Amino acid sequence: MIHKISKLHEEINNLKADNAGELESLRIKYLSKKGEIAQLMNEFRTIASEHKREIGQRLNHLKEVAHDKLSEMKELFAHEDSASGQHDLTRTPYPIPLGSRHPLQIVQKEICDTFARLGFHIAEGPEVEDDWHVFSALNFPDNHPARDMQDTFFVNNPSGTIVLRTHTSSVQTRTMETQQPPIRIICPGRVYRNEAISYRAHCFFHQVEALYIDRHVSFADLRQVLIFFAKEMFGQETQIRLRPSYFPFTEPSAEMDITCLLCGGKGCPFCKHTGWVEILGCGMVHPNVLENCGIDSNTFTGYALGMGIERITNLKYRVTDLRLFSENDIQFLQQFESAH
Ligand code: DAH
Repeated sequence: MIHKISKLHEEINNLKADNAGELESLRIKYLSKKGEIAQLMNEFRTIASEHKREIGQRLNHLKEVAHDKLSEMKELFAHEDSASGQHDLTRTPYPIPLGSRHPLQIVQKEICDTFARLGFHIAEGPEVEDDWHVFSALNFPDNHPARDMQDTFFVNNPSGTIVLRTHTSSVQTRTMETQQPPIRIICPGRVYRNEAISYRAHCFFHQVEALYIDRHVSFADLRQVLIFFAKEMFGQETQIRLRPSYFPFTEPSAEMDITCLLCGGKGCPFCKHTGWVEILGCGMVHPNVLENCGIDSNTFTGYALGMGIERITNLKYRVTDLRLFSENDIQFLQQFESAH
């Protein structure tokens, strides 16, 4: 018996397993109810009583050694998850969690794609701009309220003429300065205004601007593009309405309303019972703007339009608190899935 115990002892000390499966077979071989150690325990009952003490101690020690050895080996394979110890390469993989696009990006892309189908190209410009491109070239008089400290973030520099752009119309100016007509661009981007942050205003937001300059461009062309855009974006039943307005860089200027998406034009609290909701500003590019940018206003005319992406997103998705767009709340963002 003593001989058997020491033989097993040596065997156990030298155990090796290549994977968790092999280890499990070893456990069964030595430590299961019918395993080698259990068999020795059975034999132990028949041992003469004068040897019981010594052999009993040795047996118990052997059992401990076997337990320790196997659990030490088990730790090595702890990362293996299948009993066979083989990785199943045919197993269906866990789905990789994909992020979703930001709702403003989804809507911005939809707007840009709609204009791209009409031949507009994307143009971009800097967010930190000079006074000329944001205001002066766009025919803002020196004392125009938009230049006021209340609206514009001024960047601290000695000349005092660097600002965070308050609208993407600055990209119009940059493009017209460097290209001759025909110009057909769509300019998405972030803009900044010195506003107190609330559910309906933020110090930064996003706009898309469109500009078309060529020979013989008329207000009728603008109107046609607006109708196309409204129907593509909000559905074929959507109607538009143009109201006269004022912007320094367009003459004539207009604001465009669409029929309220909620009530279809009948009137509801969302549209303040008018049946219409405002979505963008537009007009024929002012001759002064063309001349400021080096384009002959006797030969060329053009239209421009600009809209807030947050506003369009609110209309499409009913996000009523603007702050949600910049809070990075995963629960909010995960609701927006897009195929793009
Ligand atoms: N830039 C204007 C704004 O920020 C929006 C706008 C109005 C753009 C009329 C235009 C336009 O191009 O023609 O409020």
